[in-house]
Amino acid sequence: MQKIATVLIAATLIILPSLVLANTNAPSAVENGQRNYQALCLACHGELGHGDGIAAQALNEQPSNIYQELSSWFESEAELIDAVLNGNEEMPAWGHELNEKQVKEIFAYIESINQAK
Ligand code: HEC
Repeated sequence: MQKIATVLIAATLIILPSLVLANTNAPSAVENGQRNYQALCLACHGELGHGDGIAAQALNEQPSNIYQELSSWFESEAELIDAVLNGNEEMPAWGHELNEKQVKEIFAYIESINQAK
């Protein structure tokens, strides 16, 4: 009985700290959003999501100001997520690369950088 307790305590001592460490190393939602936004969206939508990226000049249609859309009364978050996953005119569809959670993380990143300015 005492042996089992010793093993359990030892296991806890080893496992608990590694869980805590793993947690602090895990990227936050905003950091995930930043990574995906910079890799997939920044070229068209620009540094802050205002629709002024380098590639925007080559398009017939101006990319949306994502920050403005997120704060608009006329667009729901669900509609914006749908546009990202399924595309919209010159906006490519991302449903094969991103899921709904990852799109929300991108939106959280855009809100955080715009609020910081
Ligand atoms: C090739 C350039 C391009 C890339 C890359 C791109 N977009 Fe767009 N995006 C557009 C254009 C152009 C529009 C305007 C389309 C419209 O209004 O129909 C748009 C519109 C949007 C809208 C508004 C949709 C609506 O219904 O009003 C959101 C939100 C958006 N993009 C998010 C993203 C996200 C997130 C990414 C990266 C995963 C991304 N875009 C990547 C060009 C791009």
